[in-house]
Amino acid sequence: MYVLFFFPLSLYFQTGGLFWKVETGRRDGRISLSKEIDANLPFSNFNITQLKQNFASKGLTKKDLVVLSGAHTIGSASCFTINTRLYNFTGRSDTDPALDPTFASELKKKCKPGGILPVFELDQGSSTISDAQFYKAVRQNRGLLISDAALLDDHATRAYVKRQSKSAAGATFGRDFGKSMEKMGRIGVLTGSEGEIRQRCAFVN
Ligand code: HEM
Ligand SMILES: *[C@@H]1O[C@H](CO)[C@@H](O)[C@H](O)[C@H]1NC(C)=O
Ligand SMILES: *[C@@H]1O[C@H](CO)[C@@H](O)[C@H](O)[C@H]1NC(C)=O
Repeated sequence: MYVLFFFPLSLYFQTGGLFWKVETGRRDGRISLSKEIDANLPFSNFNITQLKQNFASKGLTKKDLVVLSGAHTIGSASCFTINTRLYNFTGRSDTDPALDPTFASELKKKCKPGGILPVFELDQGSSTISDAQFYKAVRQNRGLLISDAALLDDHATRAYVKRQSKSAAGATFGRDFGKSMEKMGRIGVLTGSEGEIRQRCAFVN
């Protein structure tokens, strides 16, 4: 049984439309613990090895990694998140050499050492549209997060970035994204009498 889910729900028509099928009947837990975050979620300073390991631990491939990172075609990241990358990359008041120098100085004008705001578009100039601009930015060393830039450090993920960045809509990005989202929806499903099927996705019953 499937329902169709639009991403992000209210923005579907404005963003140009990523969508996928969501399997119904998923059993989820009733408790969220902040102390479980570190062992499960990837962080923005992860290198390619850490990213691949983190995804593999959830049954996701490096194809899923590069495809799902394409979610960063939408939204923003804060000055706080990129501060170390701009000002203290290796702990010697340096900037990440993988970041385009012109872009780095533009960011530094608005994002001061130790600063928290403003936020920056994850794919500059196109953060409200789901397209291949994210992959273009990454290819030009203008990916905002260390984890975005890291997609150039593996042969296969790099090839994918290049391929998608060649056409405006992303050669196969839309289709790939739907598939990987459906796969992500199958992570850690509870079985038997564990947990519950939620009446509303974001709330326990
Ligand atoms: C590959 C590993 C990933 C890492 C390390 C990562 C990390 C981050 C970080 C640090 C931010 C910015 C937070 C801030 O400064 O406010 C962000 C934003 C965002 N991420 Fe990811 N992310 C990853 C994968 C994903 C995936 C798989 C999705 C969804 C399929 C996703 C969707 C988003 C969206 C939509 C935003 C923008 C949020 C907003 O504008 O408020 N990310 N991500
Ligand atoms: C990635 O980070 C881990 C942990 O800090 C480190 O052991 C590893 O050498 C790094 N790998 C690459 C390819 O940079
Ligand atoms: C830069 O990083 C080093 C090593 O992690 C740390 O000792 C130092 O305090 C940091 N500098 C600033 C300004 O945060």
